Amino acid sequence: MDKLKLLNYMKTKQIMIALFAISLMACKNITSCETDLVADNVTFATQQIGHQVKLIEKAGQFINPRTIKDDKIQYIPFDDWTSGFFPGSMWYMYKLTGDEKWKNLGIKYTESIDSAKYVTSHHDVGFIVMCSFGNALKATKNEAYKEVIVQAAKSLATRYRPTPGVIQSWDEDKGWQGTRGWMCPVIIDNMMNLELFFETTKFTGDSSFYKMAVSHADVTMANHFRKDNSCYHVVDYDKIKGGVRSKQTAQGFADESAWARGQAWALYGYTVCYRETKDKKYLDFAEKIYNFIFTNKNMPDDLIPYWDFNDPNIPNAPRDASTAAIIASALYELSTFDKPEYKETADKIITSLSSPSYRAILGTNGNFLLMHSVGSIPHGHEIDVPLNYADYYFLEALTRKKGLEK
Ligand code: GLY
Repeated sequence: MDKLKLLNYMKTKQIMIALFAISLMACKNITSCETDLVADNVTFATQQIGHQVKLIEKAGQFINPRTIKDDKIQYIPFDDWTSGFFPGSMWYMYKLTGDEKWKNLGIKYTESIDSAKYVTSHHDVGFIVMCSFGNALKATKNEAYKEVIVQAAKSLATRYRPTPGVIQSWDEDKGWQGTRGWMCPVIIDNMMNLELFFETTKFTGDSSFYKMAVSHADVTMANHFRKDNSCYHVVDYDKIKGGVRSKQTAQGFADESAWARGQAWALYGYTVCYRETKDKKYLDFAEKIYNFIFTNKNMPDDLIPYWDFNDPNIPNAPRDASTAAIIASALYELSTFDKPEYKETADKIITSLSSPSYRAILGTNGNFLLMHSVGSIPHGHEIDVPLNYADYYFLEALTRKKGLEK
């Protein structure tokens, strides 16, 4: 960016922050402000995602945006772990606006990643298919989408290792994370794939999927967490004899650190486990994870976490808006389980994410909604960028917030 452009950008940003502060002061009561916050974000998202859609439609085929690199939008294939998030965002836009335009785009983009149901090379088929087809099914009741979900669950089940009782996340050497002598690496993110199994048991009556989900959640609870209720990123199991071989990180600051997004996946994952099983131990566990996150001395006042709670560079370390969005969405759901106090925390996060410090200026940021997320610092990959999953969970959180405030 040249000097003049930078000055203009900073001026615009200052004006936006001032306007945001004035609008907050002008709020007469919390409820109307919060409703306005959703409405304001929906207006913004309609325009910003509208720009993104124009580019996609111009391409003449579905190109799936993930982030930006060197000011250029990066597009991904159907088997990328993030391929379900942009189609999924269409479904939340439909829910938030009721506009059929988003439904039609949702159908088109979701169906264009249909082949993802056969992915067996990593565990992310759960993320991909539930965010796209899972939401599509809820919105349209199209029975054909159930078959996609069931096929995806069968693909995920090929990675289930019965002796340790877990779903293997990555192959022994997936490439980019390097060889660390793993046999059956399980990352905490895998908690997010369990919903696919829970849904499949409901659709098919086959309880083996439910049982695999519960086993994975229980074994993860036993092995992934430290005494302070923070979690490791990677736990490697012996898939022949069972038992833990090592506890490490791939995307965090250090093996013994608390990688922020990992804590968010854990919170969200155990919240889903409680919803699906009604086993109170999962609810209690989600609350313990909440306590680790929100009593942490390195949690900033605006509740947008640094990328890793133990980065020694804090407060000069990058924030991760994606972590904040995932946590906010999880907390709105957690608040519905007789825990209304969690909504207040989620509202604070959403207020921060909606401010000009994190929400992009219209027409900038590669047409993504949120700025300042982190993919993987140890790999020098996607540092301080927009990410399609930050936007997806932000829209999901707004949808849940709107539902709670109805
Ligand atoms: N599931 C990969 C990540 O959170 O970066």
